[in-house]
Amino acid sequence: MHEDVERVIVSRRRIAARVAELARQIAHDHAAPDGSPGEITIVPVLTGAMVFAADLIRRLPMRIRIGVVTVSSYPGRTVTSQGPALLHSGFGDLAGRNVLLVDDILDTGATLSMVHGLIQASGPATLRTCVLLRKIGRQSRDITADYIGFDIPDVFVVGYGLDFGDYHRNLPDIVKLRPAAMAGAGRHAEAR
Ligand code: XMP
Repeated sequence: MHEDVERVIVSRRRIAARVAELARQIAHDHAAPDGSPGEITIVPVLTGAMVFAADLIRRLPMRIRIGVVTVSSYPGRTVTSQGPALLHSGFGDLAGRNVLLVDDILDTGATLSMVHGLIQASGPATLRTCVLLRKIGRQSRDITADYIGFDIPDVFVVGYGLDFGDYHRNLPDIVKLRPAAMAGAGRHAEAR
């Protein structure tokens, strides 16, 4: 285990199994009326959802287009959201398309709401949302996602695309860091 890791919250084995299940469900829900796989536009919220989206799309059987949106909630080495800020949207014209918005984690729901509103305004035929993780008890009641990988406790997690100070996205498991690593005392501490 990486020296900065306190414990694994969701293992790579469980992630892989769940991503396959989510893909089956998404494929089923987006099949064309004649039963053929259909077409979908995936909009991953960068940077956190890139690893999840990369695994998910390779499990989907339909024709796929990708349009990204980049949002920042946690500038620098912080675990407190400053509210989502849209940095870039590169999803083009989504009018009439079947869109699947993919994010890493549903925390308060502010990010998903913001991007959902943005996409909805461009008139997609369908718009569904998929998150790998949902933090228990953090969202107001009306905010949820159509597809949810795992419910997790309200701890700050990294790995599988999620970061702290832009590091640890490459860890294959979703983990909680040691307090020392979070405090900047870890070997990978950085001044920003
Ligand atoms: P909201 O509150 O807008 O937050 O639903 C969603 C975004 O906040 C980030 N986030 C986290 N990032 N570990 C992270 O690395 C976490 O535990 C965590 N909780 C929220 C994430 O970017 C997500 O899209």
